[in-house]
Amino acid sequence: MTAGYLQPDCHPAPIRYHALFIHSRYSLTLMHITPEHRRHAQDLLNFIDASPSPWHAVDTLAERLRASGYTRLDEREPWSLEAGGRHYVVRGGSSLIAFRLGEARPAESGYRIIGAHTDSPGLRLKPKAAHGTDSLLRLGVEIYGGPILATFTDRDLSLAGRVSLRTAEGIDTRLIRFETAMARLPNLAIHMNRKVNDDGLKLNKQTELPLILGTLENALPPAEQFLSLLAERALCPLSDLLSFELNVHDIQPGAFWGAAGEFIADGQIDNLSSCHAGLTALLQAPPAVPTAVCAFFDHEEIGSASHKGADGSFLEDLLERLTLSRPMDATAHKRALARSLMLSADAAHAYHPNFPGAYEPLHAIQVNGGPAVKINVNQRYATDGPAAAHFMELCRRTGVPGQTYVHRTDLGCGSTIGPMTAARLGIPTLDCGTPMWAMHSARESAGVLDQLWFSAVLILFLVDA
Ligand code: CO
Repeated sequence: MTAGYLQPDCHPAPIRYHALFIHSRYSLTLMHITPEHRRHAQDLLNFIDASPSPWHAVDTLAERLRASGYTRLDEREPWSLEAGGRHYVVRGGSSLIAFRLGEARPAESGYRIIGAHTDSPGLRLKPKAAHGTDSLLRLGVEIYGGPILATFTDRDLSLAGRVSLRTAEGIDTRLIRFETAMARLPNLAIHMNRKVNDDGLKLNKQTELPLILGTLENALPPAEQFLSLLAERALCPLSDLLSFELNVHDIQPGAFWGAAGEFIADGQIDNLSSCHAGLTALLQAPPAVPTAVCAFFDHEEIGSASHKGADGSFLEDLLERLTLSRPMDATAHKRALARSLMLSADAAHAYHPNFPGAYEPLHAIQVNGGPAVKINVNQRYATDGPAAAHFMELCRRTGVPGQTYVHRTDLGCGSTIGPMTAARLGIPTLDCGTPMWAMHSARESAGVLDQLWFSAVLILFLVDA
């Protein structure tokens, strides 16, 4: 935890210029949960439930941006941009960058960039997914990233993603989702798996992960039985369906839990909670001198090396276009980058009292204890000393408690998009996020207070010149 402003009698000044109610004390009690905290947490759950795949997450982001007056730009076209202009760009259907141009030129004031990721670990359908075994129709899956596989058993699963099809105008790609619990990965009964509670649930990734989709219809080959469902959902003839990318998601909506409803549970809290906080900050931040940018990337969970990932050219390409949208000299873009700051927002590991040995004792962070800055000397997180100080000052000035996370020295540390965007762009970067339990489970948990607090800190980050 950060020092200095955690004493119960410390009353930092709240943000003057936005509507969020921010608490001025760290001495947390459940009384601190205001209707505003609850509304904000409910809005996060709605955002997640509307986004069962990274393609849907981008669609949800775009819809909210349009509702707030942002317009979409096409990377293939020239852009005419003006101070204060609010726009967004989509690349590859599942990465999106939104920005609001500042009052000053980027070369004079730089960029304030929030980065987060739209993807979550889980199961994805193989291209030839459908097959029949005995009387059952099954779906073969690949593992995307590093999910806790056992958590996908016995859940109400469904499919969401996109399909590409042939039309008179060429290939068209459409989002589809199924709302019903159409697929399932039933556990093996304990009577055939007697040691499951001693050894944990182990699943063979090739043979024991296929989902049960239904009962085979004798008249139809399995592929046709399955693809007809997709074609019907995409409103196209089966013969026009060319390819699909489908994510397996849990249809159970997000929920509040805990004796006082002080926690939330949902899928994909890592990292749609950070996308939601970044979007909230961008939409609520008052006009400012620097240019505000929110970059939401797909493919973080699998290393980010793709044409739309954080280790690709998307953010660089966009920033260069923004700088050069006004007539400037040859050094303008380098000067803009040199004046910029990035905040890499990604969920953090909260202390779990059943497993005290999993945490670094002096750097354990608490759910509902405030957002955490993440530090790793080997640059698995990009934060350096000045960036950590910046985070602590953002927290103090918004009246939000801040925490400091360091992974145990004897455990391998995860990473974020922070180090790679810092390396590509040469921009100092702050890695931080809200504390959560059960990261990469099909059903993750977090705190009602932290989400609003994090949004408040991000608002100040964007507008601070
Ligand atoms: Co993450």
